[in-house]
Amino acid sequence: MSAKSFEVRGGNLFVEGVSCVELVEKFGSPLYVYSIKALKDNINSYRKAFSKANFGVRFLYAVKANNNLTILKLIARENFGADVFSDGELYMALLAGFDRNYILFNGNSKSDEEIRMGIEAGVPFSVDSLDELKTISRIADELGREVRIAFRINPDISPDTHPKIATGLKTSKFGIPWEEVIDAYKLAVNSPGVKVAGIHCHIGSQITDVSPFVEAVKRMFEVAREIEKLGVELEFLDMGGGLGIDYEGKGAPTPSDFAEKIVPAYENGLSTIKSEPELWLEPGRSIIGNTAVLLTRVNSVKRAYKNFVAVDAGFNLLIRPAMYDAYHKVAVANKMDKREEEVYTIVGPICESGDVLARDRRLPKVEKGDIIAVFDVGAYGFSMSSQYNGRRRCAEVLVDGERAYTIRERERYSDLIANQLIPTDLF
Ligand code: LLP
Repeated sequence: MSAKSFEVRGGNLFVEGVSCVELVEKFGSPLYVYSIKALKDNINSYRKAFSKANFGVRFLYAVKANNNLTILKLIARENFGADVFSDGELYMALLAGFDRNYILFNGNSKSDEEIRMGIEAGVPFSVDSLDELKTISRIADELGREVRIAFRINPDISPDTHPKIATGLKTSKFGIPWEEVIDAYKLAVNSPGVKVAGIHCHIGSQITDVSPFVEAVKRMFEVAREIEKLGVELEFLDMGGGLGIDYEGKGAPTPSDFAEKIVPAYENGLSTIKSEPELWLEPGRSIIGNTAVLLTRVNSVKRAYKNFVAVDAGFNLLIRPAMYDAYHKVAVANKMDKREEEVYTIVGPICESGDVLARDRRLPKVEKGDIIAVFDVGAYGFSMSSQYNGRRRCAEVLVDGERAYTIRERERYSDLIANQLIPTDLF
């Protein structure tokens, strides 16, 4: 977390120049709060990390991590491209103003309608199967368009991360199996409406050891060398996203640690091929993850089997702990200067025993009305939220210095029934 984005003043947690207590008073609880400074710091550290590369580098922000339109617009104006995984993400990325030449349409199960939409928008595609290649070729041909494509390849690399977010394993649903990659490219170069432009892989997420990425770079160049023999000129090699962040305070590689290993490996690879493909990266979490806190008010404290602190946000607003056993730091935002004296388990309001945000944490004495801050929730936080249990999604606020902007309003009760129709015949 960048020091000046989140700091303690007078016993209270501040996001830049605004106290969390004030934010909750003004905007209500629960509340997602983003620091614009933290976002800019992350973007700049990626840029700086790769500034010395003697080849082209392009960053495609992974929209799935956080698709708030204001956030997308802030990232788009930094000359980032976008990785989109659905028609909806494509819609949002176009609206946010990302350059369509660098909006990569990813996805392992695109419908014909989504493919048509992507082709009409003129974006490049990452192709996940031969069936998809055929569909793209047919529709592009019908529309008289030429689509730049890469295959998503499965490099069969096993990074040390949660099994639900490791995607480059042989057993994963993603990508063209390693043994079939070259045949797939042979088919693509002979397909109408399609121009082979790149190679794509994404080995997983929350990866805190850089070596699997270096391994993946080597694999990508193995493919590059083979497909150049087919007369292909490569425009990009896309290494996907996946760089982890430091959720637990145990350390994680920074973009510069990442670049330090990746850049020489890439340069090495380039010396073995004829074309000069740009390096594309698709960071999500490492751009937006540490920029936000979730503020949630304590409704009650109960001494039972454990000391339970029941707050007003649950897995409806942050599913990562329930889904991946993810660890997020927590603090009592209005008692930052108090001694940590008791161990608490923070639970949400959802009617499921798995609705636990944080287990066995030593905190200052917690009382009803306190505000718990859950850290590092910018990525896969709000974007994975739901209305389960009839809970309206909360507001999102962006802080810039002393100013706080609402970038999404709290949902209304009517949002809980939006788009529902009641057949009048039945009543
Ligand atoms: N590119 C592709 C093709 C992806 O599938 C993903 C993430 C990314 C880029 C961005 O990866 P990142 O830099 O954010 O690690 N919900 C899970 C993470 C799922 C990641 C899915 N794909 C979580 O909360 O940990």
